[in-house]
Amino acid sequence: MSLKDSLSFKGSIATQLLRDQHIITVEFAEGYLDNSIDTKKFLEHVDYSISVHFPLEDNFLIPIFRPYLKKYLDFEEPIRVISGEHQTIRRERQLIYRPSLNEADEEVEITPDELFGKCGVIARTLLQHIYKEENGLFGLVEAYLPEPEKKEVSVKLEENLPILEKNFRK
Ligand SMILES: [Fe+2]
Ligand SMILES: [Fe+2]
Repeated sequence: MSLKDSLSFKGSIATQLLRDQHIITVEFAEGYLDNSIDTKKFLEHVDYSISVHFPLEDNFLIPIFRPYLKKYLDFEEPIRVISGEHQTIRRERQLIYRPSLNEADEEVEITPDELFGKCGVIARTLLQHIYKEENGLFGLVEAYLPEPEKKEVSVKLEENLPILEKNFRK
Protein backbone atom coordinates (compact mmCIF):
# COMPACT_ATOMS: atom_id res chain seq x y z
CA MET A 1 0.00 0.00 0.00
CA SER A 2 1.30 3.44 -0.79
CA LEU A 3 1.80 6.04 1.91
CA LYS A 4 -0.71 8.22 0.14
CA ASP A 5 -3.52 5.74 0.87
CA SER A 6 -2.40 4.91 4.39
CA LEU A 7 -2.47 8.40 5.92
CA SER A 8 -5.50 10.67 6.33
CA PHE A 9 -3.60 13.99 5.98
CA LYS A 10 -6.34 15.57 8.13
CA GLY A 11 -5.68 17.72 11.18
CA SER A 12 -6.37 21.00 12.97
CA ILE A 13 -5.92 24.51 11.58
CA ALA A 14 -2.35 24.44 12.96
CA THR A 15 -1.26 21.64 10.62
CA GLN A 16 -3.71 21.41 7.72
CA LEU A 17 -1.77 23.64 5.32
CA LEU A 18 1.36 21.54 5.96
CA ARG A 19 -0.55 18.28 5.58
CA ASP A 20 -1.93 19.49 2.23
CA GLN A 21 1.68 20.00 1.11
CA HIS A 22 2.58 16.53 2.40
CA ILE A 23 0.05 14.94 0.01
CA ILE A 24 1.80 16.60 -2.94
CA THR A 25 5.28 15.65 -1.71
CA VAL A 26 4.20 12.02 -1.25
CA GLU A 27 2.84 12.05 -4.82
CA PHE A 28 6.20 13.33 -6.12
CA ALA A 29 8.30 10.90 -4.06
CA GLU A 30 6.18 7.83 -4.80
CA GLY A 31 5.93 8.93 -8.43
CA TYR A 32 9.69 9.23 -8.67
CA LEU A 33 10.22 5.78 -7.13
CA ASP A 34 7.77 4.13 -9.53
CA ASN A 35 9.22 6.01 -12.53
CA SER A 36 6.15 8.10 -13.34
CA ILE A 37 7.91 11.38 -12.43
CA ASP A 38 11.28 12.31 -13.92
CA THR A 39 14.36 13.46 -12.02
CA LYS A 40 14.08 17.12 -13.02
CA LYS A 41 10.46 17.46 -11.86
CA PHE A 42 11.23 15.53 -8.68
CA LEU A 43 14.21 17.72 -7.79
CA GLU A 44 12.20 20.88 -8.50
CA HIS A 45 9.70 19.70 -5.92
CA VAL A 46 12.48 18.79 -3.45
CA ASP A 47 13.83 22.33 -3.84
CA TYR A 48 10.35 23.74 -3.22
CA SER A 49 10.03 21.64 -0.05
CA ILE A 50 13.44 22.75 1.20
CA SER A 51 12.75 26.43 0.46
CA VAL A 52 9.08 26.68 1.45
CA HIS A 53 7.76 23.70 3.42
CA PHE A 54 10.68 23.12 5.79
CA PRO A 55 10.91 26.82 6.80
CA LEU A 56 7.16 26.88 7.54
CA GLU A 57 7.71 24.03 10.00
CA ASP A 58 11.08 25.17 11.37
CA ASN A 59 10.27 28.88 11.72
CA PHE A 60 6.59 28.93 12.71
CA LEU A 61 5.08 25.62 13.81
CA ILE A 62 8.02 24.34 15.87
CA PRO A 63 8.94 27.56 17.75
CA ILE A 64 5.31 28.12 18.79
CA PHE A 65 4.88 24.47 19.77
CA ARG A 66 8.20 23.91 21.58
CA PRO A 67 7.20 25.42 24.98
CA TYR A 68 4.00 23.33 25.09
CA LEU A 69 5.79 20.12 24.25
CA LYS A 70 8.24 20.82 27.08
CA LYS A 71 5.47 21.71 29.48
CA TYR A 72 3.56 18.48 28.99
CA LEU A 73 6.19 15.95 28.07
CA ASP A 74 9.45 17.47 29.28
CA PHE A 75 11.42 16.20 26.33
CA GLU A 76 12.23 17.67 22.94
CA GLU A 77 13.06 14.51 21.07
CA PRO A 78 10.19 14.70 18.53
CA ILE A 79 11.26 18.23 17.53
CA ARG A 80 14.95 17.37 17.38
CA VAL A 81 14.29 14.41 15.11
CA ILE A 82 12.17 16.42 12.68
CA SER A 83 14.57 19.40 12.47
CA GLY A 84 17.51 16.99 12.10
CA GLU A 85 15.85 15.28 9.15
CA HIS A 86 15.28 18.64 7.43
CA GLN A 87 19.07 19.12 7.65
CA THR A 88 19.71 15.60 6.35
CA ILE A 89 17.50 16.16 3.33
CA ARG A 90 19.15 19.54 2.62
CA ARG A 91 22.55 17.82 2.71
CA GLU A 92 21.42 14.96 0.51
CA ARG A 93 20.14 17.50 -2.02
CA GLN A 94 23.40 19.49 -1.98
CA LEU A 95 25.42 16.35 -2.67
CA ILE A 96 23.75 15.83 -6.02
CA TYR A 97 25.49 18.50 -8.02
CA ARG A 98 28.80 18.37 -6.21
CA PRO A 99 31.08 16.29 -8.44
CA SER A 100 33.00 13.56 -6.64
CA LEU A 101 36.79 13.28 -6.91
CA ASN A 102 38.64 10.31 -8.37
CA GLU A 103 42.05 9.00 -7.24
CA ALA A 104 43.91 11.58 -9.30
CA ASP A 105 41.82 14.31 -7.64
CA GLU A 106 40.03 15.04 -10.87
CA GLU A 107 36.40 15.94 -10.75
CA VAL A 108 34.11 13.19 -11.94
CA GLU A 109 30.66 13.89 -13.28
CA ILE A 110 27.87 12.12 -11.49
CA THR A 111 26.62 9.20 -13.60
CA PRO A 112 22.91 8.69 -14.36
CA ASP A 113 22.92 5.64 -12.07
CA GLU A 114 24.42 7.63 -9.22
CA LEU A 115 21.89 10.40 -9.78
CA PHE A 116 19.06 7.86 -9.71
CA GLY A 117 20.47 6.35 -6.51
CA LYS A 118 20.85 9.69 -4.75
CA CYS A 119 17.39 10.90 -5.75
CA GLY A 120 15.99 7.58 -4.53
CA VAL A 121 17.58 8.19 -1.13
CA ILE A 122 15.95 11.63 -0.97
CA ALA A 123 12.56 10.24 -2.01
CA ARG A 124 12.68 7.54 0.69
CA THR A 125 13.92 9.96 3.34
CA LEU A 126 11.07 12.36 2.49
CA LEU A 127 8.47 9.60 2.70
CA GLN A 128 9.56 8.33 6.10
CA HIS A 129 9.92 11.95 7.31
CA ILE A 130 6.34 12.76 6.35
CA TYR A 131 5.13 9.53 7.93
CA LYS A 132 6.86 10.56 11.15
CA GLU A 133 5.30 14.01 11.11
CA GLU A 134 1.80 12.81 10.27
CA ASN A 135 1.88 10.04 12.90
CA GLY A 136 4.15 11.69 15.47
CA LEU A 137 4.86 15.39 15.79
CA PHE A 138 1.62 16.65 14.27
CA GLY A 139 -0.42 14.38 16.55
CA LEU A 140 1.38 15.93 19.54
CA VAL A 141 0.58 19.40 18.17
CA GLU A 142 -3.12 18.50 17.90
CA ALA A 143 -3.10 17.11 21.46
CA TYR A 144 -0.98 19.65 23.34
CA LEU A 145 -1.11 22.99 21.53
CA PRO A 146 -3.94 25.18 22.92
CA GLU A 147 -6.54 26.54 20.50
CA PRO A 148 -5.34 30.20 20.48
CA GLU A 149 -1.82 29.04 19.61
CA LYS A 150 -3.20 26.73 16.91
CA LYS A 151 -4.84 29.81 15.43
CA GLU A 152 -1.56 31.74 15.75
CA VAL A 153 0.32 29.01 13.86
CA SER A 154 -2.33 28.95 11.14
CA VAL A 155 -2.16 32.75 10.67
CA LYS A 156 1.65 32.66 10.48
CA LEU A 157 1.64 29.83 7.96
CA GLU A 158 -0.93 31.59 5.74
CA GLU A 159 1.01 34.87 5.96
CA ASN A 160 4.41 33.40 5.21
CA LEU A 161 3.57 30.85 2.53
CA PRO A 162 3.27 33.48 -0.25
CA ILE A 163 6.44 35.25 0.94
CA LEU A 164 8.50 32.04 0.91
CA GLU A 165 7.03 31.05 -2.47
CA LYS A 166 7.91 34.43 -3.93
CA ASN A 167 11.51 34.14 -2.74
CA PHE A 168 11.72 30.59 -4.05
CA ARG A 169 10.62 31.61 -7.55
CA LYS A 170 13.16 34.47 -7.77
FE1 LIG B 1 9.23 18.33 7.88
FE1 LIG C 1 6.33 18.38 6.72
